Parts: sequence; C-alpha cells; structure tokens
Amino acid sequence: MSAALPSSPAPSCHVLRPARGLKAAAASRPCSAMSRAVLVLLCAGLGARLAAGSTGAPHNSRVKFGLRSSAGSEDEGCALEMGSESSLQQCGFNATARTFLIIHGWTMSGMFETWLDSLVSALQEREKDANVVVVDWLPLAHQLYTDAVNNTQIVGKSIARLLDWLQEIPLFKLENVHLIGYSLGAHVAGFAGNYVHGTIGRITGLDPAGPMFEGVDPSRRLSPDDAAFVDVLHTYTRETLGVSIGIQMPVGHVDIYPNGGDFQPGCGLSDVLGAIAYGTIGEVVKCEHERSVHLFVDSLVNQDKQSFAFQCTDSSRFKKGICLSCRKNRCSGIGYNARRTRHKRNSKMYLKTRADMPFKVYHYQMKMHVFSYKSTGEVDPTFSVTLHGTNGDSEPLSLEVLEQIGLNATNTFLVYTEEDMGELLKIKLTWEGASQSWYDLWKELRSYWYRPAKTSQELHIRRIRVKSGETQQRFAFCVEDSQLTSISPGKELWFVKCTDEWKRRSVSNTL
Ligand SMILES: *[C@@H]1O[C@H](CO)[C@@H](O)[C@H](O)[C@H]1NC(C)=O
Ligand SMILES: *[C@@H]1O[C@H](CO)[C@@H](O)[C@H](O)[C@H]1NC(C)=O
Ligand SMILES: *[C@@H]1O[C@H](CO)[C@@H](O)[C@H](O)[C@H]1NC(C)=O
Repeated sequence: MSAALPSSPAPSCHVLRPARGLKAAAASRPCSAMSRAVLVLLCAGLGARLAAGSTGAPHNSRVKFGLRSSAGSEDEGCALEMGSESSLQQCGFNATARTFLIIHGWTMSGMFETWLDSLVSALQEREKDANVVVVDWLPLAHQLYTDAVNNTQIVGKSIARLLDWLQEIPLFKLENVHLIGYSLGAHVAGFAGNYVHGTIGRITGLDPAGPMFEGVDPSRRLSPDDAAFVDVLHTYTRETLGVSIGIQMPVGHVDIYPNGGDFQPGCGLSDVLGAIAYGTIGEVVKCEHERSVHLFVDSLVNQDKQSFAFQCTDSSRFKKGICLSCRKNRCSGIGYNARRTRHKRNSKMYLKTRADMPFKVYHYQMKMHVFSYKSTGEVDPTFSVTLHGTNGDSEPLSLEVLEQIGLNATNTFLVYTEEDMGELLKIKLTWEGASQSWYDLWKELRSYWYRPAKTSQELHIRRIRVKSGETQQRFAFCVEDSQLTSISPGKELWFVKCTDEWKRRSVSNTL
C-alpha cells in the first residue's frame, strides 16, 4: 500500500536536474553548497513532503473539478463528476458558454493559495455566463517537487478525459475552453491539450515552472502545439545559481516578459542570496512568480487601463526603446487581452509595469542626436527628462544608458510614466549635476586624476523625437531657443513642439 517516502530530506542537485535536454553548461555545473541550498529550498526545504501522495488510491480520484458559482474561499465549488450528466445540471454548467479551468501549481502548504479566489472572481466578473472550474490536484502537487513534476502528466490526462466526455454533450465546444495554469499548472494544461481529442481554444501559462522543463522537448512541456492559442506571462525568469523558477524560453505563440521577466517592481529584494540568508526567499519567490497571476487578473478587471506589450528580439533592445512599434501586429494587449496573430510562434513581447494594480504604464521612445564639438574624450552624461503634458507633469525620468552614449550619433531611450500625461507639450532635458551621487563624485574624482586639465563637458542637442507606444503618435520637439543648444553637467534644456519654420531650417541644415 504505502510506498516508501523519499528517504533523503536534502535532495542532491542530481534530483533536480532534468534527465535530458537541459543546456550542457547548466548540466555540467558543479554542485556548490549554495546551489544545493537553492535546491533544498525548491525540493524539500519548505516541507513539501506528505504521505498523501504515496497512498495507493487511483490517481484520477485525486483530481477534482469544482465549478465555482461564487468567489468566496468557503465555496469549494460544485463537483463535476465525469460521466454524470446530472452533476452538470446540478452545478448549473452552461454547455454553450465559455469554460475556464484554473490549474494551480506545486504547493508547499497543501492548500489553495489566496490568488485563486481573486482569479475566480475576476473571470466571473468579466465573463458573466462562463463556467469557472477549479482543478484541484492538491494531493498530487503537495509532494517533493520532482514527484509533483511527474504527476503533471497524470493530471493533464485526467483533464483531457473530462474534456473528451464533455465533448459528448450537445453544443459543448472545445474551442470555448480556456485552460489557465500557474507554474507547474501551466505544464499540466499543456499535457491536457496534448492528450485531448481535438484542439483546445486557448491555454494561458502564468509563469510556467522552469526546473525540469527548461530546454526539454516540446512534448514534455507547455508548447504552442497544445492549443489553438497559447499565451504566456513570464515574471520570474531570473537565474539564481543556475536555477530559474519560471521558464525562460518562449513556450507559447505569444510570450510576454513584463519588466524583462526577471525583476518585478514592488517585489523588493533583488538580492536573492541575501534573501536566502535572511530566510525571506519565500516572499520574493511568491511576489515575482505570482505577479503573473495578478497581471492576468488586472487584464480581466481593469479594461479601461489595458497594458500593451511590444514585440522585441530581446530585453536589452526593448530597454533601449527600439521596440515600440505596433505595425504588423507587433504590439498586443496582455493577459486576457492578448491576441493571437497568425504564423507567429514564440513571439517575445515586452512591457514595463507599475508595482501594483492597475499595472499599466505609458511607454515613450525618445530619440536624440547628440553632437559633440569639443573633443573632451570620454563623456558620460546622466540625462533625465521631465514631460509636460495636457494632463500634468511627470517626475524627472532618467534616460538609461546601457552602453556608452553615442556622440555625433542618434541615441534611443525608453521612458515610461505611471500617469497618462495627455498630449505632450514640452520636455525638459536635464544633465544631472556632477555631485548628485557618490558614484558621480567618484567618476568626477577619477576624471580629475586622469585628466587634470579637464575641459568643461559640453554636448549639443537640437531636437528630441518622441513616439508614444500606447497611441503610436510621433512628435518632434525642438530646442526652445534655436541659438542655445548646448548642455553641460547641472544644466537643462527646454524643448517645445517644432514649428514648420524650424523644420524647414533643420532640413536645410542637413540631417
Ligand atoms: C449560457 O451561455 C450562453 C452563451 O454565453 C448565454 O447566451 C445563455 O444565456 C446562458 N444560459 C444560461 C441559462 O445562463
Ligand atoms: C513517475 O511516476 C511513475 C508512477 O506513476 C513511476 O513509475 C515513475 O518511475 C516516476 N518517474 C520518475 C522520474 O520519478
Ligand atoms: C563630432 O563631429 C565634429 C565635427 O562635426 C568633430 O569636431 C568632433 O570631434 C566629433 N566628435 C566626436 C566625439 O567624434
């Protein structure tokens, strides 16, 4: 009856390493004490071992389907029994309506987490007639991580059997089914889509689990083959000691990486090692991993504040402001509002967000040609812009220089505001003073030692071209006084909408 419990309380790195498919570099990495700490944490550290999983009960009976009619956590849901049409009637299942199946992930507590109820009520609020079903596989998920991973196929199969049976009900259509899986639940959804007869309408993966799924064959993880439309939100793909909790690779038709997918604002500690040392790692993991769920809930309930994501080859190009185009379906809503575009698979999309709901921000691309007439060698300006619009003014927004600023070249930056500025009227460009921070002071001292005869730093900027990601509108802003184009540390320049007269002149001035 009772199979042996895993005997070792501290699993070795070997336990967590996928049998095949993982990048060779990762697989050959030596097992340091620190990475063992992470693995212990992942596999067992938080007490995820329970006898429940090792009883001899048939697996299917440990997957339950609860149709929720209200959101309260006291509502267990009405149990849908496979093969029993009367249970469908009793539960008020509407065969012509959309059906959502929410699939939780690996659990350390053995209980539903609080995000579940907010997702249930957000779905009920957005789609009034829909059947919102919670897939309860808690006993199979409350296991060593590696065993829970093994169980994802079993759970996927039992969802597929339920859907196969529902397809015998008149008017029920698989295309109206939307599976929403969090973490390990995302791969469960993938297996369900793989095993079901026919094609499921949509699968949303909310930060699909990474360990043991990263780099493996598409048949062994969530992939675009599993539904007509597979969209994914990646929120915790930062690699710590060789392990990423959320899968890094794109696994859907559309893969959205909010804030680059590796650091979520408001989740505090970016120092994961520190968090391990202080025992707060659980909170960081929960905040960043679970952010995917809250972004999805946001997309359901805040329809007037829809976030947009932009296609880009990678995060650093996005951070440079290069990718804010909506041409040829290069931008899309996120979460529930994500839309499939034909022929696209593994399309990576990026956006910035606020730290809490509503998460929407307003993205701008800023392009400026920076002229350097005096050869001062190394120039390392710290610029910020303040936007003045019809709805108000922004804070000073720093222009992030990822490499070196291009002199006598056009530089592109990404800035974003939490509030809608309305139509932009004026822009103030500031070169932050040299003694703004210890770092700046250090830079100053260093240049003092190396260049005692340092000439004053001076750059010239005549024009800033702005494009709004949200409206796709473009504007050109010209320096207020065309005779004064120079800027130096501690100084600022004002830009206003270019007049036609200015444009004519600038055309004759070349560029
Ligand atoms: C079932 O769903 C359909 C489609 O959303 C809707 O038109 C209909 O009113 C619903 N029926 C009931 C009894 O709620
Ligand atoms: C997965 O579970 C099955 C039983 O359901 C077992 O036979 C198999 O060895 C397990 N695989 C792994 C890799 O643990
Ligand atoms: C930029 O161009 C000007 C001439 O237009 C030249 O004098 C200056 O040295 C150049 N600066 C750099 C850094 O190349």
